[in-house]
Amino acid sequence: MKRGRMKKELKCLPYTDQLPMMSLEKILSAQELQSEVKGNKIHDEHLFIITHQAYELWFKQILWELDSVREIFQNGHVRDERNMLKVVARMQRVGVILKLLVQQFSVLETMTALDFNDFREYLIPASGFQSLQFRLLENKIGVPQRMRVPYNRRHYRDNFCGEDNELLLRSEQEETLLQLVQAWLERTPGLEPHGFNFWGKLEKNVTKGLEEEFIKIQSKEESEEKEEEMAEFQKHKEVLLSLFDEKRHDHLLSKGERRLSYRALQGALMIHFYREEPRFQVPFQLLTSLMEVDVLVSKWRYNHVCLVHRMLGSKAGTGGSSGYQYLRSTVSDRYKVFVDLFNLSTYLVPRHWMPKMNPIIHKFLYTAEYCDSSYFSSDDSD
Ligand code: HEM
Repeated sequence: MKRGRMKKELKCLPYTDQLPMMSLEKILSAQELQSEVKGNKIHDEHLFIITHQAYELWFKQILWELDSVREIFQNGHVRDERNMLKVVARMQRVGVILKLLVQQFSVLETMTALDFNDFREYLIPASGFQSLQFRLLENKIGVPQRMRVPYNRRHYRDNFCGEDNELLLRSEQEETLLQLVQAWLERTPGLEPHGFNFWGKLEKNVTKGLEEEFIKIQSKEESEEKEEEMAEFQKHKEVLLSLFDEKRHDHLLSKGERRLSYRALQGALMIHFYREEPRFQVPFQLLTSLMEVDVLVSKWRYNHVCLVHRMLGSKAGTGGSSGYQYLRSTVSDRYKVFVDLFNLSTYLVPRHWMPKMNPIIHKFLYTAEYCDSSYFSSDDSD
């Protein structure tokens, strides 16, 4: 009886009042059309505002997830492997939100360039450059400042003042997701030179595998195909052996073409190779979700630039950039954070070249029990 009466009373309340904790009232009354303020209400400005607000709300959720993941790494909680599942689940959630955001541009694409032009003048000097959350997102994931495309010789932070500027500066100084993942990868079990020594064994196996391939090609009868095959082999050999050249790695790192430390790269490759081992399954999922985030942010940039091209042609942006030209230059590997994970595929070798696990490391990887390096025997037989 009592419950029924409650229900009736709630029904009489406006929807927004039923959920005061969500402040829906505030959100739903936060669409102020500048064209209306200036006495010339333009219909599509409402869509433009709603779309931006929806994007910013989702950016906020992504930052929420990212901060929680960074905190798990920062506090060392990731050493307890049960927390890895939480990290992976949250990064996968970030991926699903980004997929939605990539798609969301299609709603704005229902607006024509002429419709946009009707209210564009009312937006000046507002611009996407002023999206604090987008910049925080880039910084917290780990877009390096030196890789940013400059526009009008201005620093991207010049668009922000006061507290926002400080927030951005702090996000540049804090450990990024990339740095935290790097430190975690550096601790990949099996990398210890006096233990399983994955890297040393891999180098030995790759050298041996290449020698065998060379002998196989060499033993063939002289022909044009043999020459081509040998030339192809030499190129392949050079690429594979470059993996073991630490100086080259450091050089690429200094140019920004690689982002992970040499040891972290080894850890990532080890996870790729042994991803079927139960101990490495969740780490592999994490690496996959990080690549997914990079891909989806690139797709976001691409869809945004297509929309801008459609709306503005080659006109300059309201934020003072060249518009389409500037945005096009941001759809590149400069802004990819986990670029090394993509490039790992260059170095995948036939399965039988992979160092074989001795029973001790195999058991350790299988049972995921706590280990120190003494668990690994330094059996160099393969
Ligand atoms: C009609 C739709 C849109 C147009 C014409 C447009 C135009 C532009 C232009 C020209 C720029 C370059 C900066 C400038 O000179 O102003 C820019 C940057 C940006 N816009 Fe948009 N935009 C649109 C929709 C959106 C939406 C829906 C979002 C979602 C939040 C967004 C977020 C951004 C961000 C974050 C940047 C900075 C990108 C960077 O510097 O890498 N824009 N936009």
